[in-house]
Amino acid sequence: MRSSATPEPDGPSGTFGFRCIGCGALSHAPELDFRCSQCGNLLEITDPAWRSGKLCAADLKSVWHQRRSSNSPLDLSGVWRFRELLPAPQSERHVITLREGNTPLYELPGSSRSTGVPRLFAKHQGMNPTGSFKDAGMTVASTFAKQAGYSWVACASTGNTSASMAAYTARGGLRSLVLVPEGKISWSKLSQALDYGALTCQLRTDFDGCLRLLQELVRRAPVYQLNSINPFRLEGQKTLAFELLEQLYWHPPDHIIVPGGNLGNSSAIGKALLEMREIGLIPRLPKLSVIQAEGANALVRTLREASGKQLISVDAETRATAIRIGNPASWQKAVNVIQATGGACEQVSEVEIARAKAEIGAEGIGCEPASAVTLAGLRKLLQQSFVKPDETVILVLTGNLLKDPDFTMEFHRGDLFRGTVHEPQSAALNPFRHPPMVLDATLDAVLKTLDQAEKAHPINSNV
Ligand code: F0G
Repeated sequence: MRSSATPEPDGPSGTFGFRCIGCGALSHAPELDFRCSQCGNLLEITDPAWRSGKLCAADLKSVWHQRRSSNSPLDLSGVWRFRELLPAPQSERHVITLREGNTPLYELPGSSRSTGVPRLFAKHQGMNPTGSFKDAGMTVASTFAKQAGYSWVACASTGNTSASMAAYTARGGLRSLVLVPEGKISWSKLSQALDYGALTCQLRTDFDGCLRLLQELVRRAPVYQLNSINPFRLEGQKTLAFELLEQLYWHPPDHIIVPGGNLGNSSAIGKALLEMREIGLIPRLPKLSVIQAEGANALVRTLREASGKQLISVDAETRATAIRIGNPASWQKAVNVIQATGGACEQVSEVEIARAKAEIGAEGIGCEPASAVTLAGLRKLLQQSFVKPDETVILVLTGNLLKDPDFTMEFHRGDLFRGTVHEPQSAALNPFRHPPMVLDATLDAVLKTLDQAEKAHPINSNV
C-alpha cells in the first residue's frame, strides 16, 4: 500500500532483502544456514518500503481493519492480514495458512488484584491453531520454503516449533523432519508432530545439541530449516505486536513482557515495535522485557555479566521445558531490542513459575509453564519499581494449557517438586492446588466434599 488516497493493499512489494545484524551486509539470496556469508552472524529481513515513508500509517490501519470483515483466506489469517509489513510471496497461491493469529487479549482480574496492576492483560498466543505462538511464524516460513521448491524442511525443537512445523508443512504438501531432545519435551507436543506426519527423531541430547546438529545437516542435505534462525519465522511473529496494538486502538502499553528461550519471539516483537514507530503507527515504544527460568538464564547472565556483548551459555534445566535452552541463537537480536525499547531481563524460580501458572489457570484461561514466567517476572519487576502499578502491562502467553498436562497434574497432586531442591519452598503452593478426588459413587460422599470445599474456600476468597 502506498501513501496515495486509494490504498493498493494487495500489491506485493517483492523488494525485501536480508541484512546481517552484525556487519550490516545486505544480500538477496541467503545461505542455507541463514547466516551472513561474511561474518557468520544472523540475518534479518528488511524492505526499503518499510523505511522509505511510502507506507501511510492511517491507510494501513484502515485497510487492516477493513480486512476483518473479509472472507478471503489471506484476510482471515491474523498474520497475512498485516501483509504490507511482511515479505511478499511471489503468489498468494503459495501461502500455507491455518487461519493463525487472531488471538484474544484477555483481562486478568485475579492477577490484577494480586499484583496491584489494574491494567494487566494477557495476549494469548496459545489460542493459535496448534496451540502456540509458533504458528504466526510458521505460516510465513513454510510458505517461503514451498516457494523455494524444497520438499524437506526440518527443525530442532523443545516441542512447539515441531508441532507447528509439522502441521503447516503437512497442509502445504512438504515433508518434515523433527529433532527433539529425548525425554525432555511434553508428550502432547510430540504427539502433535506424530499425528501431522513428521519424521520424528528423539535425539539423546538437549535442545542445544539438536540445533547444532540441524545446522550441520542443512549444509549437507537439501533440507530447509524452519527454526527461528530462519528470518521468515520472525517476520510472521511480528504480527503479534501489530494485532496487539490494533486491539489497544493503537495506544502503546507501557510494558510488554515475554518469555525467553531461543529468543526469536522477543526479537520479532521488538522488530515489529521499532518498525511501527518508524512508520508512525505508534507514537512511542513500549518497554519490552524478557523473562527466563533461573535454570535457563543465558540472556540474564549475558546482560549482567557481559553487558550484552558476548553470550554466556548455560547448561539449561527447568520444568518449563519449552524454554529449557542454554545457548540461545537469537541472543544478540534480543539484546538489541531490549536495549532499544528500554526493557529489562529477569529470571524466576521454578516455584514462582508453578504459582504463576496456577494463577493464570484460575483466571479460566490457563497457559503452559514457559508462558507463566511472564506473570512471575512481572512480580519481580514490580518489586524493583521497574513496572509501576498504574502502568499498562501486557503478558504474552505463548502456549496453551493443554500443551503440558503432566506438569499440571503433578502440580495439583503435589508431586511436581517432590524429592527436588525446590521441595521446601513448594509448600507455599498448597493454596493454589486443586487435586482430583476419588470418591465412592454416592450422593453423600459428593455432598460432604462440596461442604468441605465451601468451608476451605469461601466464595470471596482470592485463591
Ligand atoms: N514459550 C513457549 C511455549 C515456547 O515453546 C518457546 C520456545 C518460548 C516460550 C520461547 O520462545 O525461543 O522465541 O524465545 N519454544 C521453541 C520450540 C524453542 O522449539 O518450540 P523463544
